[in-house]
Amino acid sequence: MKKGLFITFEGIEGCGKSTQARMLKEFLIKAGKRVFLTREPGGPKIAEGIREMLLSVNNKEMLPQTEVLLYMASRSQHTGEWIIPELEKGKIVISDRYYDSTFAYQGAARKIDGKLIDTIRRYATFGLVPDITFLVDLPEEIGLSRIQAKDADRLEQESMEFHKKVREGFLDLANNEPERFVVLDGKKSIKEIHNEVIKIINKELNK
Ligand code: TMP
Repeated sequence: MKKGLFITFEGIEGCGKSTQARMLKEFLIKAGKRVFLTREPGGPKIAEGIREMLLSVNNKEMLPQTEVLLYMASRSQHTGEWIIPELEKGKIVISDRYYDSTFAYQGAARKIDGKLIDTIRRYATFGLVPDITFLVDLPEEIGLSRIQAKDADRLEQESMEFHKKVREGFLDLANNEPERFVVLDGKKSIKEIHNEVIKIINKELNK
């Protein structure tokens, strides 16, 4: 039985979500909360092994079918081995990406059927749904300009058109589930975005 709070951060490459996830963790720890910060793809050993496969630029021949199943396989291990047990201990779990990334990248951009993704999603996550999802929205040209070409992973090397679809995919998800999503303007300063995140979280903790 879930006791803690599950918060996720989503967005395109270079949107600043990882910085925000870390800043939220620090804020909550200072406030005396027990926090567990993690990220996807990856987490526990098996999921990290899958991450390497997914992001390696040597795996250019990976098929969309393989890709979506590997993201979900990584998520399943991550959710069952780490996220659910930490929530059961009553912690606030923050994940830098979760299943919305699969709907945006593999669904909206790679054109894999959303209903199929949703069926696998339910199985792979044991039905776990984030309590709050922060979408840090940013135009793809700005996000990608922040990524160093030499360090770009397999997904980051996709075209601008691909990342535009990812961004639109995220915005559609947020529109469809306004009660879970909070859309933040990634063009604002790091501090301004952080303050907006804190305002929402404080409201949630005082419910
Ligand atoms: P990161 O850059 O945030 O570490 O994420 C790794 C890459 O994996 C990033 O390009 C987004 C991509 N991704 C998907 O395509 N589908 C997913 O389900 C997840 C979690 C990430």
